[in-house]
Amino acid sequence: MGKALDGVRILDFTHVQSGPTCTQLLAWFGADVIKVERAGAGDITREQLRDIPDVDSLYFTMLNHNKRSVTIDTKNPEGKQVLEALIQKCDVLVENFAPGALDRMGFTWERIQELNSRMIVASVKGFGPGPYEDCKVYENVAQCAGGAASTTGFDDGPPVVTGAQIGDSGTGLHLALGIVTALYQRTQTGRGQRVLAAMQDGVLNLCRVKLRDQQRLARTGTMKEYPQYPNGKFGEAVPRAGNASGGGQPGWILKCKGWETDPNAYIYFITQAPVWAKICNVIGKEEWATDPDYATPAARLPHLKDIFAEIERWTMTKTKFEAMQILNKYDIPCGPILSMKEIAEEPSLRKTGTIVEVDHPTRGKYLTVGNPIKLSDSPTEVKRSPLLGEHTDEVMAELGYSPEQISALRTAGAI
Ligand code: COA
Repeated sequence: MGKALDGVRILDFTHVQSGPTCTQLLAWFGADVIKVERAGAGDITREQLRDIPDVDSLYFTMLNHNKRSVTIDTKNPEGKQVLEALIQKCDVLVENFAPGALDRMGFTWERIQELNSRMIVASVKGFGPGPYEDCKVYENVAQCAGGAASTTGFDDGPPVVTGAQIGDSGTGLHLALGIVTALYQRTQTGRGQRVLAAMQDGVLNLCRVKLRDQQRLARTGTMKEYPQYPNGKFGEAVPRAGNASGGGQPGWILKCKGWETDPNAYIYFITQAPVWAKICNVIGKEEWATDPDYATPAARLPHLKDIFAEIERWTMTKTKFEAMQILNKYDIPCGPILSMKEIAEEPSLRKTGTIVEVDHPTRGKYLTVGNPIKLSDSPTEVKRSPLLGEHTDEVMAELGYSPEQISALRTAGAI
């Protein structure tokens, strides 16, 4: 079976996490992704957080599947010529260098256009145009600048960053959508274009509901679904809401059996209005189903703390999985707090290809997250990440270089 992006060639000039996330997805959808790395060193993550000496780190291998690696010194005049040949042959150039690096290399948008007017140039940057556009940015900077940190954590504590890499991987996802959209538009216009995904913008997009709440707060001075209501004070900005669900259905994280020793013996419990009577039955508080202080969502709002304390008395008598089984029978929305160990061992995730075991020539077997987006006509096969420069000769030959020319360029340090 063919792949959705068969025939699309990507010049992958990405490093670290945000850009590689994007190009890995495109590779999984069938694009030929040619990763250009610095000769001798490669993507810095190859050697970061290593768990085995002298072997590509999991940081690198888990973000660079299904790609080919070529090493080119793009500051060497002959290396530049090789890059020019690649630009002429590819459909998309993806990069996430610090602002201005591509221009300094001599590859301005105008120069790339001269070489290939159909080329799409896609970039991740920390910030869009404005006061911070020249700043280098990593994940947590983006989480802080995009509104995630100020709205995450508990009201009486400092801002908190989340484990989900919404700044890096989140922006890579945004960029991937921009690229396929630009490829689609190119079928009409015949022209390439620039695609920019700024990490601040990507995080803010994922924090959309918090800007909604900012405006609700400004208008009404309160937000009834926040744990600060009715006793705490609201200030001028959206506060941190702990584990409140943030939607119209109040939720909280509750202890389950074993919480004293297991840091993940918890369940997320949602008191969804249509199943309120069932919740009351399950926890043995049948009278709350008809008590005017508890019977309606509005009446319950001032009592949420007590309600969750009562539900927790019940969840503490069950493991998170037992609680889940019982609650699901009654369609009560809930979710166990799963540890990474539990997720790694979950057979259903292996079956769907969301968790995949990959074999690597120097590392051996390791687990990775496969393609989370499943296309029925374009199944994903996860292939190991390339060794540094593994495909330099192969790609050079495809560009028309003879073995003698390749060897001369190697001697000159261009590749
Ligand atoms: N051959 C020769 N030189 C190369 C090269 C190659 N194949 N590939 C890259 N380089 C050079 C670049 O030309 C640049 O040199 P310059 O500074 O002289 O112009 C340098 O290597 C690249 O550097 P830079 O992107 O500045 O790396 P850094 O390690 O200093 O910064 C980031 C890393 C992530 C902070 C920065 O790239 C950045 O802000 N990126 C955009 C935001 C982003 O994606 N952040 C998230 C990362 S997960």
